[in-house]
Amino acid sequence: MKNRLDRRQFGKGLIGGAALALTGREASATQKSEVNHPQNTRWQPVVQGVWCATAGEPEAITPVRSRLVSPCTDALRRLPHISIPAIDPPVFRLGPRGTQLSLPLDSHEEIYGFGLQFFSMNHRGKKRAIRVNADPRSDTGDSHAPVPFYVSSRGYGLLVDTARYATFYCGEALPRPSVSSEEETGDVPLYTKTLQDGEASRIVVEIPAARGADVYLFAGPSMLDAVRRYNLFSGGGVMPPEWGLGCWYRAVSNATDHDIIRLATEFRNRNIPCDVMGLEAGWQSHSYSCSFSWNSSHFPQPESFVHELRFRNFHVNLWEHAFVHPSSPLFEPVHEFSGDTAVWGGLVPDFQSDEARREFGEYHGKNLLDIGVSGFKLDECDNSDYTGGWSFAELSQFPSGVDGEQMHSLFGLRYQRTIWEQFLKRNIETYCLARSSGALASPYPFVLYSDLYDHRQFVRALVNSGFSGLLWCPEVRDAQSEEDLIRRLQTVVFSPVAMINAWYIPNPPWKQLDRKKNNANQSSPDFEKLEARCREILGWRMMLIPYLRAAFARYAADGTPPFRALALDWPGIPELARVDDAWMMGDRLLIAPLIAGEPDGRTLILPPGEWYDFWTGEPHTGGVSLTFAASTRNIPVFVKSGAVLPLARVTGSTADPACRSLEVRIFGDGRLPFQLQASKGSVEIIWNELRKAGSIRVSGDERYTVSSWIRPDQSPLSV
Ligand code: GAL
Repeated sequence: MKNRLDRRQFGKGLIGGAALALTGREASATQKSEVNHPQNTRWQPVVQGVWCATAGEPEAITPVRSRLVSPCTDALRRLPHISIPAIDPPVFRLGPRGTQLSLPLDSHEEIYGFGLQFFSMNHRGKKRAIRVNADPRSDTGDSHAPVPFYVSSRGYGLLVDTARYATFYCGEALPRPSVSSEEETGDVPLYTKTLQDGEASRIVVEIPAARGADVYLFAGPSMLDAVRRYNLFSGGGVMPPEWGLGCWYRAVSNATDHDIIRLATEFRNRNIPCDVMGLEAGWQSHSYSCSFSWNSSHFPQPESFVHELRFRNFHVNLWEHAFVHPSSPLFEPVHEFSGDTAVWGGLVPDFQSDEARREFGEYHGKNLLDIGVSGFKLDECDNSDYTGGWSFAELSQFPSGVDGEQMHSLFGLRYQRTIWEQFLKRNIETYCLARSSGALASPYPFVLYSDLYDHRQFVRALVNSGFSGLLWCPEVRDAQSEEDLIRRLQTVVFSPVAMINAWYIPNPPWKQLDRKKNNANQSSPDFEKLEARCREILGWRMMLIPYLRAAFARYAADGTPPFRALALDWPGIPELARVDDAWMMGDRLLIAPLIAGEPDGRTLILPPGEWYDFWTGEPHTGGVSLTFAASTRNIPVFVKSGAVLPLARVTGSTADPACRSLEVRIFGDGRLPFQLQASKGSVEIIWNELRKAGSIRVSGDERYTVSSWIRPDQSPLSV
């Protein structure tokens, strides 16, 4: 069979200068120089289901070699035993530009992963630059959290352990042709290249500067198993505190203590659920770069202010970035442990060094955690190739010996660790935000966010993040229209963090969508209608917290990503292999958001099996394509048949014990019990279809009770 390629694809196979799968003739030509001779490597077992091949002399500073969290070896051993996948080890060549690795790529093999990706989900045939960047502009691989890890539709995962800006040519860089062919005659269409069906290719990886690298292979047999093994190798999935899964609100940057308390009061009075109140840049006496000290005119008594919020059951999350202003009390202690270039006139702490992490971390511990701060938003720890060049240069040098390029790849996660360490020391749970991350991130209690704001890209990022151990928040800021606000909010409540980030508007967006008027405190006359709609949507989030906790508990136990692409749960189904606008949340809910301004609505190919509409209880059989008009009121959500689904009573915050009262919905025959295994207790809810009766068993701190058992088709959630 011959495949036709379009005009853009034409010529792609002709650019493969960097290919490593050398033909015999080329290989012998390179043998003259030892350094260029391609070498075969060998897979060596690391832990059950994981192998490593070492090429050349790997660098000392890499994500795995300088990791700060150990792998979950016990959990890895508990996964089904598996022999090594039939994947050839990398072929290595050291060239003048650094390390080159060649990895197998079968015909029709799909490649997913590479961390947080906004622009595409399937990477076969593409060049991916693993380069940390804020606000990438196009489909290059750059992002806040690129990861040199991919998972293949053949059911294995591969991590190239490097902190360099590696480039992955996913089937692009083919060796030059070695034999001539007959002249083509007849009508050969212009812009057409012929690929033989079954023609395999290679994934070629270039790692600048390095003289070698470790490559880790994660066995399947399914893609989901490979992702699980990668997450467990990273240290397991994070289990957030219950409050972290509630609703978050970030107030306008220049808010004072009074403004925040007023907002908090308004939320409670108007029954807007909120567990986390975020303070943006203005809480500090100097923000760009940071003083990490309170702005005393806006927050004269920080400790009592934080206590006041905690008393009202709001957890406080503080914005910051890592760059230390000369006026900061941290300036002197960090100076000696910082890089040789500045960002916004501030020091760049060398988070690779224990000393910098200790000084920076302990300051936060003593001055902020100890007065009751529950979490942080670690901003601008990425890089700025597309946003004006504000970050530190790649040529920077740090006392630990790391250069600016390596530091960019490691900075987000090392910064996260610096802060997280303080919570661990105090045995306090946290759930935070960060704008950059990298390889081995799954155990870190941090969720990614961005200044980008395309709703469709945000959805794709959510779907993609699950391939590489990342969590992503498609945050809601302001909106173009009521529809836009509602659609974005409907998405974010089915994501790792249900957050409104109102950092540039003093009033919640539902009060006034027009940014200027919002800043002039002019509420729209009929805002209460929109507010009621938003309240209802935030309420869905509160209802889903027990279910979300169960999904995260599984992430911690066996590495199953709580938010993931349909391709992971239903591999080998061509119609689902490229779905980047729907995801699984936990083991039994499928979410398919609508995007404002798309008049045709959307379609969804329901995966195999029996399903129910979450809202109406209407049954559907999988395999069909469903259409949703743009006017569909609620976000399309489907529940697997058999699901026992607990929904919590909606409360203002998770601190209200009333949220432990559950309405349990039984979809189909209820054969899939609900199970939540948390560290301090467990919940099991079972439905007996014969007796038409359910039961709940709780232990430890999990004090849930069931208020009602409901058949959704008899009592729809909403219409
Ligand atoms: C940006 C960040 C925004 C907001 C803003 C405050 O870098 O992405 O969410 O925090 O800074 O200055």
